[in-house]
Amino acid sequence: MSEPRHPGMATNDYSPFDIYRRYPEKSPYAYEPPLFNLLPLRSPTAVDTPQLRRAALDIAKRTGINVLDYMYGQYPFLMSDLDLRTIRQNPVPFAEYQPPPPLTKLNLPDDVEFVSQVNEKGNTPIFVVKVGVALRLLKIYPVVRSRRLSDYADSDDSDDEDSDAPTDPMKLFLREKEAYAHLVHAGVCEAGHVPQCYGWVELTAAHVDAIASKAPDLTYCDSLTIKDLQKMVRKGRMPKGILLEYFPDAKTLTYKNATEELGQAACRALSAIHAAYVLHGDISDRNLLIIPNGRVVWVDFNSAQCASDPKLTRLDLISEFHMGWDKFYMELLPNRRIGWHGHLEQRGTKAA
Ligand SMILES: Nc1ncnc2c1ncn2[C@@H]1O[C@H](COP(=O)(O)OP(=O)(O)O)[C@@H](O)[C@H]1O
Ligand SMILES: [Mg+2]
Repeated sequence: MSEPRHPGMATNDYSPFDIYRRYPEKSPYAYEPPLFNLLPLRSPTAVDTPQLRRAALDIAKRTGINVLDYMYGQYPFLMSDLDLRTIRQNPVPFAEYQPPPPLTKLNLPDDVEFVSQVNEKGNTPIFVVKVGVALRLLKIYPVVRSRRLSDYADSDDSDDEDSDAPTDPMKLFLREKEAYAHLVHAGVCEAGHVPQCYGWVELTAAHVDAIASKAPDLTYCDSLTIKDLQKMVRKGRMPKGILLEYFPDAKTLTYKNATEELGQAACRALSAIHAAYVLHGDISDRNLLIIPNGRVVWVDFNSAQCASDPKLTRLDLISEFHMGWDKFYMELLPNRRIGWHGHLEQRGTKAA
């Protein structure tokens, strides 16, 4: 990828429609001259004084608005309402898309060690496991019968195929498996923008018993217990898992650790994910890991959608890039300046 010679240089050589037609095959970072304000021209913090920050924080606390929001300028390829109409009426198909081979199925040895549970309060049971000498991350998806899911989940959307947030763990598993098939094949794992994915696994009764002794209080969707899981296994419904690279020193993104460099790395990584024809589907602070050497890694593809789904559009991908850009330049970086935890949704502003 060629580095822009003059980062942030102004240009009106491109129309938003041209950029949209070429996204995700052409990275927004590959344009020469560069797209205006993709990398904001200069850091607005140069004008900061303690008084300015204090006054802005005071206003933010009173009104819920960070008045410094717009100081990084506008998202570089904002589509007007007219453009959006044109785009919806003239969709540009993914002519170059080729479905990847399915994700490899692995055999997890029965005596694999369940070392610790990650994210105990999270949605998906996740364990650090020791495979040979290597530590890996295992995301686990129980096989719950769809009509019984409402017993376990607080949502009633389990039977709705079109739901944006399915709670049926098998749907989540299949989404994550399909996304990693695309990401592995396109080299996005190898490039380090997302964890390496070693494949998917089917857990055995021995694995579930090992989980039971490591995490006897484990619950899924607030009500599925480890005993339920063991019962399912006895009926032959073996949980599925995705085996991933584990980052022991990772921190999740917050307004406190966000920097301009991380913002740029995260947006570049997001465009690389999109270039594999994968929509992440859950752009949030919790799903971006900051690794000590300054690397960023997007995780959690169980809300993802790939171009193998005919409903995915270019507009979906470029809108998600917009969300990622806004996450840093309109939310976290301005919030870091004033030491305030507020976010776009709270202010009733839609990111895309
Ligand atoms: N590869 C990883 N290495 C280290 N920690 C991780 C990794 N993947 C996820 N995590 C941690 O686990 C949390 C939940 O993982 P995620 O894949 O987002 O699951 P969920 O579907 O429950 O949101 C993340 O927010 C992060 O803190
Ligand atoms: Mg997550």
